[in-house]
Amino acid sequence: MDMQVIPAREGNHNLHDYEKTRESFSWEDMKKDFSWNETGKVNIAYEAIDRHAKNPKKKDKVALAYSSPEREEKVTFETLSKESNKFANVLKKYNTNKGDRVFLFMSRSPEFYAAFFGILKIGAIAGPLFEAFMEQAVRDRLQDSEAKILITTPELIDRVPQDELPNLEKIIIIGNNVENKERYIDYYQEMDAASEEFSIEWVDLEDGMLLHYTSGSTGKPKGVYHVHNAMIQHYATAQWVLDLKEDDVYWCTADPGWVTGTSYGIFAPWLLGVTNVVRGGRFTPDDWYQTLEENKVTVWYTAPTALRRLVSCGQEVLDKYDLSQLRHLLSVGEPLNPEVITWGMKALNLRIHDTWWMTETGAQLIVNLPSLEIHPGSMGKPIPGIEASIVDNEGNEIPPNQMGNLAIKAPWPAMMRKIWNNQSKYESYFINGWYVSGDSAYKDEDGYFWFQGRLDDVINTSGERVGPFEVESKLLEHPAVAEAGVIGKPDPVRGEIIKAFITLNAGYENSEELLEDIRKFVKTGLSAHAAPREMEVKDSIPKTRSGKIMRRLLKSWELGLPTGDTSTLEE
Ligand code: WTA
Repeated sequence: MDMQVIPAREGNHNLHDYEKTRESFSWEDMKKDFSWNETGKVNIAYEAIDRHAKNPKKKDKVALAYSSPEREEKVTFETLSKESNKFANVLKKYNTNKGDRVFLFMSRSPEFYAAFFGILKIGAIAGPLFEAFMEQAVRDRLQDSEAKILITTPELIDRVPQDELPNLEKIIIIGNNVENKERYIDYYQEMDAASEEFSIEWVDLEDGMLLHYTSGSTGKPKGVYHVHNAMIQHYATAQWVLDLKEDDVYWCTADPGWVTGTSYGIFAPWLLGVTNVVRGGRFTPDDWYQTLEENKVTVWYTAPTALRRLVSCGQEVLDKYDLSQLRHLLSVGEPLNPEVITWGMKALNLRIHDTWWMTETGAQLIVNLPSLEIHPGSMGKPIPGIEASIVDNEGNEIPPNQMGNLAIKAPWPAMMRKIWNNQSKYESYFINGWYVSGDSAYKDEDGYFWFQGRLDDVINTSGERVGPFEVESKLLEHPAVAEAGVIGKPDPVRGEIIKAFITLNAGYENSEELLEDIRKFVKTGLSAHAAPREMEVKDSIPKTRSGKIMRRLLKSWELGLPTGDTSTLEE
């Protein structure tokens, strides 16, 4: 595809001379901006919240501009600091300590942020879960992490399989009329009684702060473990890539159950003391535009799936809103179609800056910077301090324009430090000093990286990573399903949709009602975004002789592509 190159944005950028900075930059240089430089002890919650709350010029600034269909609230840095202190005291009262896993299973709300920073302030490890998760997804994560405390709301408590979580000591419930059970703690009651003073737990840069579960192609979701040190990269990319400045109003649409929602929905803006817009609930194009207009958002970080919906809803919807404040626009999560970039230039007169990274990488790595040209369809170039390359399966670099494994020279500040309870899985990511991403890509002669696809079977639907194995396992729990194979099928709006191929047990007839029932079963058992949008009943599911489902073959059939090597196919 030959798309026109879009020239660098004019103006003064936080990272002006990309090439020169790349040559001379070292991550050590960044550390001098932090208050911990002298002591060596840190806490990301201090850097993101308390530091501003202690600054007379900053304390009354709005940190969180929250809205949802039911509620609107502005929270200053000082209030957020005090509320998170209170929550830290509540956790301490119930014997929660440094290194304990404390999970949050709730929708976005001001209470979420107070609790999140309260957890970090005691040195515990926060595990945010998508509110859309159903029982099994919740169980898997709380069991694997051996979570000690869960914070949730009355609407979600029924999805917590309490009898199967022996390590879970307390459940803090944010709601009215909390039931009187031994395990339950009434959030509002405790917060009312808690002190606003708390002396923060100073930790080491390499101490844990966050556990994000994400999907692979096999096995249960894995717990990606991040440490306080990640803040160095959040801080750097907030300036270079998000282009944030003191007076910006920033909005990241991602939920904190996803890494974008923590790294860039929480840490990046607040490390710089910037006002952060949070909107709860589901979005329609009007909601997006309205939120941008009402909050006078200047910098917006969103996903291709949202942008594609804006494109398709047309100019009439856009014309209803005044978005003149918006000056910088970014995207993450899936390939950003060149057509969408063209739309951005025409409809908004803004460049859309694609960024590439993963749950495991903790922060942006390959990006489009304001001071560089955009080559539509390319993810851009590695940020200073990061070496990216294309390697073969042995970890040897391969020449430009050849497709291979997208790899990053390890380590870097925000890189995961382990996979919870799974050291061999962690080690399997690294070959010959490179972190191998699982994405295929190539690099052109100008140093731009071009995404080609996933090398494993992981599905990316509306920017959310779904492991086919999890969906297949859930399908098999339905009494009618004998076998299941799940693939991602290309979709113009969602990137991919989930398609399930199933065989039926004796006594079941293929019917619309049955398929709908199975779909609902996955939706209510696992999560809405994991439920197959399409289902097809087959006589058999192709498997290797060792019994592995051949998802690649299913996909080739679905797309009418050549089936390639089928020598391992079972008779
Ligand atoms: C995909 C999201 C194309 C990719 C922060 C990666 C992308 C996976 C891009 C990680 C992009 C992310 N262009 N593909 N700009 N950004 N991806 O862990 O396949 O939810 O490996 O983290 O999303 O998804 P995850």
